[in-house]
Amino acid sequence: MAEMMDEKTLQNKLQEIYEKIDCKLQAECVRVGDKIPYIPYNGKYTVDMREENMSFWTNGFWAGMLWQMYHANGNQMYMETAKKSELVFDEALEKFTGLHHDVGFQFLHTAVADYRLTGNEKSKARALHAATLLAGRFNPIGNFIRAWNLDKTGWMIVDCLMNIPLLYWAEKELQDPRFGYIANQHAHTALKVLLREDGSCNHIAIFDPATGEPLEFPAGQGYASGSSWSRGQSWAIYGFALAYMHTGMKEYLNAAKQVAHYFIANIAATDYVSLVDFRAPKEPVCWDTTATACAACGMLQIAEMVPEYEKALYHDSAVKMLLALEEKHCNWNVEEDGIVQDGTVAYGREGEIHVPIIYGDYFFVEGVLRLLKKDFMIW
Ligand code: GLY
Repeated sequence: MAEMMDEKTLQNKLQEIYEKIDCKLQAECVRVGDKIPYIPYNGKYTVDMREENMSFWTNGFWAGMLWQMYHANGNQMYMETAKKSELVFDEALEKFTGLHHDVGFQFLHTAVADYRLTGNEKSKARALHAATLLAGRFNPIGNFIRAWNLDKTGWMIVDCLMNIPLLYWAEKELQDPRFGYIANQHAHTALKVLLREDGSCNHIAIFDPATGEPLEFPAGQGYASGSSWSRGQSWAIYGFALAYMHTGMKEYLNAAKQVAHYFIANIAATDYVSLVDFRAPKEPVCWDTTATACAACGMLQIAEMVPEYEKALYHDSAVKMLLALEEKHCNWNVEEDGIVQDGTVAYGREGEIHVPIIYGDYFFVEGVLRLLKKDFMIW
């Protein structure tokens, strides 16, 4: 691993990055108004996800990023803009059929964040509806929370580890262990069927929904079955780390560390930025910076929970990843939308390769704020 800069130089560098984030997000707030952004095209957020798909899984990240910034500096514009985008979820809850396992991403970043930071009771009720919906997706024969809707009755995916903190929140809020029980059952099944012996992860497992027997492990958003989609690996690192944070169950921390070691071994070969899949053919070269940003946050979480002598690997790797993103993949032009460039939605998906994506920005901002000790634990 290359030399780390000393702590004072690092803090100065992070402060500079934070100031650039603040300038850029203030300009974006003015341009975005009450729209919900996802991917900017030609440097502008032209599509409003509120209109395009009110139930889309990424619709919370914009608010989550703004709540992080509001927590860091108290700028009212961040809070007001975040609150506006929360309202879309009333309609989504009423419609019901568009929502699925991703309510964690959606409601932790909007309603739960609002409730935690402002005490808004309406937000608490919204989030409890969402947690109940998530718990209702539990398959008690296969012991997993089912992914997506329609015919995917037996599907579970690694991404959902990032949604179960909504259940841990509801468990504490209601003093009701059912929610934590479901979260733990899902995480245990993920340990059994998604985590592989070598520290990599499957994206998807398909079960027979009536018997709970695992049947298939398709490619999902990665290159192929058996490959390793980097964002999926990052969901596992951060998701298992959060499951440990919420429960203290050591097997989750060990899993998070194992996937982190696998991730670090892979990105060391590409200057600390992740390819979209660690087991895809060498050409075409395709990055996914969103995976880098999310994995960095997961590693910072691990660093906070391990003994002092273990911290450096996770902390220093996360720093290298965030600084590599800043050095090579950030757009600081305040006239253009989107900070972190070169995110990729899925391997080979035309039009959604090497673009800025709202969750890439979210995790980058969370990581930088965390290193500055200005972050807010949204999960
Ligand atoms: N959770 C969907 C994705 O990571 O693209």
